Amino acid sequence: MIAETRKDIEKIEKSVSESKGAILIVDDDSNHAEGTKDVLESVGYSCDLATSGKAGLEALRKRQYDLVLTDLVMSDADGLEILREAQQINPFVALIVLTGHGTIETAVEALKRGAIDYLVKPINIEALRVRVEKALERQELKRINLDLEKRLDQKFGFGGIIGNSEAMRQAIELSKQIAETDVSVLITGENGTGKELVARAIHENSLRKKRPLVPLNCAALSPQLVESELFGHEKGAFTGANFQKKGRFEFAHNGTLFLDEVGDMPIETQVKLLRVLEDGEVIRVGSNESIRVNVRLISATNRDLEKLIKEGKFREDLYYRLKVVTVHLPPLRERPQDIPLLVDTFIKGFAHAYKKPITGLKGDVLNTLMGYAWPGNVRELKHVIEHMVVVSRDPVLKLENLPQSLYRAERRSAPDVPSLVGTPLRDVEKELIRSTLTHVGGNRYEAAKMLKIGERTLYRKLKKYQLT
Ligand SMILES: Nc1ncnc2c1ncn2[C@@H]1O[C@H](COP(=O)(O)OP(=O)(O)OP(=O)(O)O)[C@@H](O)[C@H]1O
Ligand SMILES: [Mg+2]
Repeated sequence: MIAETRKDIEKIEKSVSESKGAILIVDDDSNHAEGTKDVLESVGYSCDLATSGKAGLEALRKRQYDLVLTDLVMSDADGLEILREAQQINPFVALIVLTGHGTIETAVEALKRGAIDYLVKPINIEALRVRVEKALERQELKRINLDLEKRLDQKFGFGGIIGNSEAMRQAIELSKQIAETDVSVLITGENGTGKELVARAIHENSLRKKRPLVPLNCAALSPQLVESELFGHEKGAFTGANFQKKGRFEFAHNGTLFLDEVGDMPIETQVKLLRVLEDGEVIRVGSNESIRVNVRLISATNRDLEKLIKEGKFREDLYYRLKVVTVHLPPLRERPQDIPLLVDTFIKGFAHAYKKPITGLKGDVLNTLMGYAWPGNVRELKHVIEHMVVVSRDPVLKLENLPQSLYRAERRSAPDVPSLVGTPLRDVEKELIRSTLTHVGGNRYEAAKMLKIGERTLYRKLKKYQLT
């Protein structure tokens, strides 16, 4: 038996090393599938055939493929499920879908879910060869780029995270320190502060980087689904469970599980999650058998978990398991020093992407950007810069290139007097000092000048209001 398996493996390894790439063809029209296989093998690919959706899913779990060519409509499975599984197993897999005439919408859906091309049946042999080659080339390029980016990062930074403010430097330093350990990390911060970016950077710099980072957005799922997503289910475990399905824990085995928006996880699921963390075993929904898993947990939330605990919506014991180390990402309005570097990087990136010769921005634009409160944090800033790059006709970005909302916010900066009625003078003064300082990027000299007070007076007030 073992000798058999070894032989099998050798056979696969040999065929892989000699072939131009391993391809899985999933198509329940077996004549059509055989034909496709013959064509691709004749030009040097190593192909496996699965003539049902179920067989396709099984094949994916047995061998790493460079490309998967799948029919979308099959009697026993949905081609989209094949796409999903294939990407879970190999993020660099090239995916091409086959469609019949009149099912273009499904093909579009497939493109949205990561397929890079589609072919309409019956397939033209020449088109098949060319498109497969192109798809593989594209994936290879993506891999090379990522590799290059990673090497640049190793030299210059950490996962592309930009920030030279003290708070960000500390967050990056801490993330670097713990990346190679296996501790659970909780990343906190408002929307768009870069939580996912940091999670990925930690994983990419960990010993598990060769294995996937498997994300699960806890906010987007109903309580039943969270469980089936996390732990998997057996065929027939509930209505609609037409297949046995692996859960994210199993996919993340030896890798990292990223629980995004963990504060939104239903309390019943929290209990079960905690049990898995304690036992290191999962049980699929509808099964009695436990499966050992070894995962590292990274969680992220924009909610105040301690408050949720007080309200009885989050389990305290789970909280302590998740936050062995906490990385907090402060909102952008508290670190305007980071804005110039972020802006510079985003301008370069978008100028390149949109092929526009943008070189920078006018000084007043940077002031406006640094004075704005950024409720959507870095994500919002990134979108604003993208907008400006797209609409600008000049190599230098100007105030009028700002999106309307921001332009108006800037114009409306005069204080809204009626809303201040009833506010203690002390609070108004504190807020005025705080926002002025933010506006000038923390420069006290500039702030004092704007407020028309001495620097020493400003210093005294900063201490009084604990704004240091
Ligand atoms: N420090 C940073 N340097 C470079 N890019 C950043 C930084 N922070 C965030 N970004 C970019 O901003 C966008 C939003 O980041 P990300 O998705 O990681 O935020 P998030 O905290 O997970 O947001 P949400 O709470 O909405 O899920 C991404 O495009 C990310 O690349
Ligand atoms: Mg996120």
